[in-house]
Amino acid sequence: MSKIFISCALPYANGPCHLGHLRSTYLPADIYARYNRMIGNDVLFVCATDEHGTPIAVKADKENKKPIEIAKRYHDMIVRDVESCNISLDNFTRTSDEAHYKIAQNFFLELYNNDLIYKKDIQQLYCENCNKFLPDRYVEGICSFCGADARGDHCESCGRHLEPTDLDEPKCLTCGHTPIIKDTYQYFFALSKFQKDLEEYISSHDKLPANVKNYSENWLKEGLEDWVLTRDMDWGIPVPLEEAKGKVIYVWGEAFLGYISSASQWSKNSNKKWEDYWDDDVIHFIGKDIIYHHAIFWPALLKAYGCKLPDNIYAGEFLSLEGEKMSTSKNWVVWIKDFVEDFDSDLLRYYLTINAPLNKDTDFSWDDFARRVNDELADVIGNFLHRTFTFTHKYFDGNLPDYLNPDDEDTEFELLMKEVPDTVGNLISDLKFREGLIEIFKIAKIGNKYFNDCEPWKAVKENPQKAANCIYLSNQLAKILAITLKPYIPIKADEIAKIINLNNSNQWKDANVPIPVGHRISKAKPLFKKIDDEIIENEKEKLYKNLKESENMSDLITIDDFGKVDIRIGQIKEAEKIEKSDKLLKLQVDIGDKVIQVVAGIAQNYSIDELIDKKIAVVVNLEPAKLFGTKSEGMILATDDSVALLSPDECNIGEKIR
Ligand code: 2FM
Ligand code: ZN
Repeated sequence: MSKIFISCALPYANGPCHLGHLRSTYLPADIYARYNRMIGNDVLFVCATDEHGTPIAVKADKENKKPIEIAKRYHDMIVRDVESCNISLDNFTRTSDEAHYKIAQNFFLELYNNDLIYKKDIQQLYCENCNKFLPDRYVEGICSFCGADARGDHCESCGRHLEPTDLDEPKCLTCGHTPIIKDTYQYFFALSKFQKDLEEYISSHDKLPANVKNYSENWLKEGLEDWVLTRDMDWGIPVPLEEAKGKVIYVWGEAFLGYISSASQWSKNSNKKWEDYWDDDVIHFIGKDIIYHHAIFWPALLKAYGCKLPDNIYAGEFLSLEGEKMSTSKNWVVWIKDFVEDFDSDLLRYYLTINAPLNKDTDFSWDDFARRVNDELADVIGNFLHRTFTFTHKYFDGNLPDYLNPDDEDTEFELLMKEVPDTVGNLISDLKFREGLIEIFKIAKIGNKYFNDCEPWKAVKENPQKAANCIYLSNQLAKILAITLKPYIPIKADEIAKIINLNNSNQWKDANVPIPVGHRISKAKPLFKKIDDEIIENEKEKLYKNLKESENMSDLITIDDFGKVDIRIGQIKEAEKIEKSDKLLKLQVDIGDKVIQVVAGIAQNYSIDELIDKKIAVVVNLEPAKLFGTKSEGMILATDDSVALLSPDECNIGEKIR
């Protein structure tokens, strides 16, 4: 028996969970944990909410709340979501727990005392309008490595971890101003010292999947640089040094320790040592956007502390929705809570697993979901089970009949089904969850064919032993299904086990222990109901309605949230038509202290010549958006003759109207 430490990436406590979270981390980690428990391994499966950093602070600013209030709200929702999908975590804590603070501060001090964390004067972005430094997500701009729009901590396009100073054209997220560069100091982690260790780590860990290995090797080729480990922010874990008042540990410098603090809290309650699990076998399940953090930073931090490094890191690829990238801000997302109000979570677990291998991006579509539930779960697995149990009652009074003188068909079927538990188990061990589920589906399909070929409804009259053998073997396969499906769809698997009256369906090795002759089988119950077209149409309608509502409310208009709309008088300096649009023009607008780009639908009202030098009223503190692929940083409220309330021509450029 081995001990296994399993973790899934700590979700930021700034929103509830959607299908993407489930697919990339919770579900694979849970399948793996459940399977390992079933083969007798001793599993410690932990997670926590990641409650510091700008993701939570920005949300709190927007809502005018304290970060801890935001974190608590979403922690509770995340727990609800995770539980509703039966993710069998042994412990789920919060990085705002006092115990976590202590662990993180001690860890920091240990590295500091060993000169692996050092203080350095640097320059950072500072917003003079908000009077604050702009760490991480407080600033947005253009990634200087690949040219894509990016946040101050991460570029989704090239996958790099960024520092705000890596951004071209930076803008303060709160007020839209261009920040200045200001002197400050921070504490750095000596990541560069671990270049060789990490090269050795990545090359010697054969189990690391290809995406983790490839990304890491490329980053290592570029050479590692020391890494800023602190921030000038109020929200976070204070740097445990007298001299560092007002500084907090960077969220990525302490979030990983959530794995440890969650495990150590579990230790206190269970009287077992989490270290034994860590020393034996550690696997982290993460999404592919945080490979860099887990394959580079985290092993380096652990090495610096003198700990054993993770044995494996599994990075799930992304899930899109109806062919489009999911977006929480556009409400283009299916929340777990909404899903489980309408469907069993096992249906989702089945779909997200069978839909594609984890190491490939894939799509959730309502039609495809219904198709798989109807054609696979209901028509193949459900149908096989239903007819097996029904016939056991119809012809054998619910008692498992004798199995005597099997013919070739029986023997071949028996051999095939007996291979399934080992095949599926090995695939799950190799993290090939989809492939394992496909094997289960295949044997259920073979089961249906066997049942049809045996024709027990005829055989019961003509050759009763043939019918008995068919029902005997079909029930044995039902047991194999109840056990092998358990890591994937635990509730449904238990329902199957209950019909078969299995005392214990928790041991993988029992899958091939035959149900004894004469054993009582309960009456069939509908296990997988087909989903009507109408229900799916409703779901699609909801999704598109949500999107529409979010477009109407528009993420651009954060004015209501902030309560501080900034309207100024601007003057159009340049105007050009946007290709593929009759209405839109791209304008360069002087708003006094800078020139911003505004996309406006006024091409049919004015000629370009007429517009040059025209004064307009423009809202300038909106989040930049893209219209026809062109960035827009403001919204025109009034030209001199279009809105009676304002007369921009009578005002001065840059003048604040509100
Ligand atoms: O990217 C994220 O959602 C982070 N909250 C993941 C943290 S995982 C680890 F560091 F704990
Ligand atoms: Zn600002």
